Amino acid sequence: MTAAAPARITGRTALLTAAASGIGEATAHRLAAEGARVVVTDADAEGAHRVAEEIRAGGGQARDHRLDVTSPDEWAAAVEETASWTGHLDVLHLNAGRNLPGAAHELDDASWHGQLRLALDSVFFGVRATVPLLTAARGAVVITSSVHAAIGFKGFPAYAAAKGGISALVRQLAVEYGGRIRFNAVVPGAVDTALWAHVSPEYRAETIARTPAGRLGTPEDIAAAVALLASDDASFITGHNLLVDGGRSISSHE
Ligand SMILES: NC(=O)c1ccc[n+]([C@@H]2O[C@H](COP(=O)([O-])OP(=O)(O)OC[C@H]3O[C@@H](n4cnc5c(N)ncnc54)[C@H](O)[C@@H]3O)[C@@H](O)[C@H]2O)c1
Repeated sequence: MTAAAPARITGRTALLTAAASGIGEATAHRLAAEGARVVVTDADAEGAHRVAEEIRAGGGQARDHRLDVTSPDEWAAAVEETASWTGHLDVLHLNAGRNLPGAAHELDDASWHGQLRLALDSVFFGVRATVPLLTAARGAVVITSSVHAAIGFKGFPAYAAAKGGISALVRQLAVEYGGRIRFNAVVPGAVDTALWAHVSPEYRAETIARTPAGRLGTPEDIAAAVALLASDDASFITGHNLLVDGGRSISSHE
């Protein structure tokens, strides 16, 4: 993959959140392979360090930083560290989110607020902390949404609200900062990451059957879409929610 990736992001600095695993990890590798200097962040500091080490071992440029995206103070520290490393920030991948099951009548306040804080408030914190640097660089922001923003799945109201909020926010931000910063979202379907480790074989098979592509997505599938939206190949794309779901959300499920 490294050899085949185009070098569209050479010389640019990219900060990624929740990048110690899954989609974020694959995206860190992809952006580095495309020439970016990447700041790998995660609440799991050891995991972020491991990913940055792997990128450096492969010849890429990477730093790591602990960043719990729900903490505005940690955002300030990560942005300061990034600016002191390269002096600019060109690409921001906002990737944190988690789906905890529970129908609306079963959810307690903590679960509702926790899921919204992790997936949606964190986008606000991240954008607020980076607008000056991104404006100076005429940068690009890519947010990881989910097909839960587009179709209903029983038992995930907070996750749907958070990801649906991202769909609207990405349009709002694209208008607000038009001409200075591009904002887009990738909208993954089922992607084979740690999130899927505890899913039953039956549900996995059912999901594949409902996906026209005939398989789950890989983290690299999503990373490729993030890299496209982050690059100048997408210079006229802003405010867009890009489905990367193997057709899951447009299938009649027959
Ligand atoms: N896997 C899927 O099927 C799928 C589908 C659609 C959307 N998504 C979205 O993709 C994103 C990444 O999911 P994944 O499947 O790669 O997950 P993953 O479980 O592989 O990785 C999640 C990462 O988030 C980090 N994290 C957790 N809390 C954090 C916090 N407060 N601050 C910073 N980092 C934190 C974890 O340490 C971990 O490294 C999420 O937003 C998820 O909602 C995933």
